Amino acid sequence: MKSVLSFPQRGHWGKSNWRGNTSGYIIKEMIEHFKPSLFVDACEGSGTSGDVCREMGIAYVGLDLYKGNDFTKDSIIQYLSRPADICFTHPPYHNMVVYSGEVYGTEAILGDTSRCATPEEFIARSQTMLLNQREATKEGGIYATLIGDHRKNGEFRSYQSDFIQMMPKSELLSVTIKLQHNCLSDARQYHENFIPIVHEYLLLWEKTSRSLFAVSMDIASELQKRVATTWRNVIRMVLMKLKEATLSDIYAEVERVAGDMIAKNSHWQAKVRQQLQRHFSNVQRGVWAL
Ligand SMILES: C[S@@+](CC[C@H](N)C(=O)[O-])C[C@H]1O[C@@H](n2cnc3c(N)ncnc32)[C@H](O)[C@@H]1O
Repeated sequence: MKSVLSFPQRGHWGKSNWRGNTSGYIIKEMIEHFKPSLFVDACEGSGTSGDVCREMGIAYVGLDLYKGNDFTKDSIIQYLSRPADICFTHPPYHNMVVYSGEVYGTEAILGDTSRCATPEEFIARSQTMLLNQREATKEGGIYATLIGDHRKNGEFRSYQSDFIQMMPKSELLSVTIKLQHNCLSDARQYHENFIPIVHEYLLLWEKTSRSLFAVSMDIASELQKRVATTWRNVIRMVLMKLKEATLSDIYAEVERVAGDMIAKNSHWQAKVRQQLQRHFSNVQRGVWAL
């Protein structure tokens, strides 16, 4: 297995008429590489993974919302006789294809992540899915997800980046690009600056012995560090422009360039002072510089 995968044919596994189905070759590739004895797919759709596992003689458990298994609510491990060697998902790419009530059934099912109202809700529920997969995986085993970028109403979302950020950095094993072939979008005509999406990502993590609580704390502290770094860089940009400036000039410029950040933080002036004291020079009384 290498970090770019390309399978022009989808193979005979699963159902080609199931919208958003994947090529069974990617499942085969993971099995040949990691040699699992138990493979779990927590949203199997048309059953591509199951067909590959049966053919390769690998024990398999396949779950999906339409079978009554909701990865945002039901723990995956409860369906297994032992933790998985590989716990895989190929979830909806938000609402690119809507599943319950459209691909199957007549009614929307609560929990269907293709029916999340916003990208933020989709990301939050997908974190539950990934943590649920992790809990169902044995120590040293692999949890993995296949996810694509999505563009809708002019907004481009690279969900793989959100997924990587909300899982433990120390467990990320690989980010693999899988080329897409025969996309519906191939035939469309686009405006000049448009770049069609012709790949998706297979994200692979290797589970360590750390507890769910410990890895969750790591993820939260990483995010906090990122917020602090962003504040520091905003102030750096302000001082690059102003060279030397008083606190009130700095506040005014921060308000101009970082309105969004300020709206979320009623103590932003204290945050600015804290960052100035920690990382910048007080060149004269009340005047700051890089
Ligand atoms: C992209 S399809 C999977 C296609 C599959 N890999 C195949 O080759 O046929 C995504 C699947 O996620 C399922 N799904 C959506 N929300 C879910 C949830 N909360 N729990 C479990 N499955 C869910 C949908 O029912 C759908 O079958």
